[in-house]
Amino acid sequence: MLASLVRFHFHDYFVQGCDASVLVNNTATIVSEQQAFPNNNSLRGLDVINKIKTAVESACPNTVSCADILTLAAQASSVLAQCPSWTVPLGRRDSLTANQTLANQNLPAPFDALDKLKSAFVAQGLNTTSGAHTFGRAHCSLFVSRLYNFSNIGSPDPTLNTTYLQQLRKICPNGGPGTNLSNFNPTTPDKFDKNYYSNLQGCND
Ligand code: HEM
Repeated sequence: MLASLVRFHFHDYFVQGCDASVLVNNTATIVSEQQAFPNNNSLRGLDVINKIKTAVESACPNTVSCADILTLAAQASSVLAQCPSWTVPLGRRDSLTANQTLANQNLPAPFDALDKLKSAFVAQGLNTTSGAHTFGRAHCSLFVSRLYNFSNIGSPDPTLNTTYLQQLRKICPNGGPGTNLSNFNPTTPDKFDKNYYSNLQGCND
């Protein structure tokens, strides 16, 4: 859940800034961002955000915005996962609307080429020193082709470490529903550390 709350904040921020537009539900005139391709069936943690909002409203009604709650939840999650803390300026205001089209446009896709990924970050004022996926999980459907039929060659991605390939195949069976989740980082899956990056280099050994 810690990782899920960090992703929630990121997916809010990339669409109209940190304004909690990701939390706005469908109405007659609003199309929710939650059904945008990068969010649909993968944005976990809405129930936790709702519980936090309910508790905050009961302690201090009409004062703390949902955008601040999303931002603080991401910071608290990182710190609970052992990332060093930082100060979070507050005072964000909540959007009254959502923009699903912008969510589809601005949020990077796992199949995007590097140049497109870089420009998605530059558009938000971020550069290549930003990183992610030190903790959390991904659906098998997003990478299962690499385990069995990479680029339609009928065999796995030849650059994958064979031991890791077998581990991933157990989590993601061939022809399975694709809904199983696999950790990004097999060694410290729930910790905010640098192991994901060093393990990535080992994946190709
Ligand atoms: C290069 C751009 C990025 C792409 C293409 C990308 C894509 C993805 C995908 C496809 C997933 C798996 C979702 C699922 O299957 O459920 C995911 C998960 C995640 N992403 Fe990203 N992401 C990117 C950047 C970021 C950034 C900048 C952050 C944080 C600031 C982030 C934080 C996370 C976290 C924490 C998870 C795990 C969520 C969970 O376990 O619930 N990602 N991302």
